[in-house]
Amino acid sequence: MAKTDFLSLLDFGRDELDEILELSGRLKGAWREGQRDEPLRGKTLGVIFHKPSLRTRLSFEVGMRQLGGESLYITDQEIGFGQREAVKDIGAVMSRFLDGIMIRTFAHANVESLAAAASIPVINGLTDWVHPCQILSDLLTIQERALAPDGLRIAYVGDGNNVANSWIHATQVYELDLRLACPQGFEPSSKSIERVRRKGRGTVRILTDPREAVDGAQVVYTDTWTSMGQEGEAVARRNAFSSYQVNDELLKAAHPEAIVMHCLPAHRGDEITDGVIDGPQSVVYDQAENRMHCQKGILLHCLGESR
Ligand code: CP
Ligand code: NVA
Repeated sequence: MAKTDFLSLLDFGRDELDEILELSGRLKGAWREGQRDEPLRGKTLGVIFHKPSLRTRLSFEVGMRQLGGESLYITDQEIGFGQREAVKDIGAVMSRFLDGIMIRTFAHANVESLAAAASIPVINGLTDWVHPCQILSDLLTIQERALAPDGLRIAYVGDGNNVANSWIHATQVYELDLRLACPQGFEPSSKSIERVRRKGRGTVRILTDPREAVDGAQVVYTDTWTSMGQEGEAVARRNAFSSYQVNDELLKAAHPEAIVMHCLPAHRGDEITDGVIDGPQSVVYDQAENRMHCQKGILLHCLGESR
């Protein structure tokens, strides 16, 4: 049987994403009830980070332990990805020691090359292009609030970055009404948009006015204006995005029961105010916790016995 990688939401159909979400929700409930099954006992996940992380590292490493397996954090100082050693050789060698690899890196092409070289599943923990694990756990958080993804009106305010691209990819299978408000020059990748517009079930609108995007939205989502790797552009970006802050005034335009989401880390006072992120509509810590339950769902889906 072919291995199952988790590289981009575009690679998955509705049934498979629903199955992982349902499994993740079940794993969350079972863990909270004190059930301690160990379906990944004896398995080891290698985790590689070329960018910093709090949530992704915690959720994969703790998630692996909760499933009875182990994880091994390997720094790039040791690996020298593509420099000390070719990606082809790294993928082949890691496959002789491990049962799966989670990688967070810059170029998405590197994750694809690693997945092509490895005979074990490769999971994408964020690239410059996409952040699929994040959007899956956001969908779980949305479902927990009794909101269905089909027909959901979601406003994404800010940078057309990796998180925005994965939201766009989610419209391939879910009938989301996704409106993104981005300053000119910071729109999401046209490659992502064209593909889902041709084949997707949801709708994607790219706007410049945050108010228009947020109008009546049931979910208001934002992310940092300066993603990892763009630190040199931080000042220019802060200027370009200054009218794209999610604050009390903007939130008034949303549905009165709208939830506010942020993948974190947040830059309080920039893309979101303290009042909003700490306010009653914010679900950001549920999102963070659900990273772990969804990571467990993804790990079982890719590394579990039936694979
Ligand atoms: N949301 C998220 O991926 O957080 P980290 O960068 O801390 O992993
Ligand atoms: N867009 C952000 C997401 C962090 C989880 C980044 O890439 O830095």
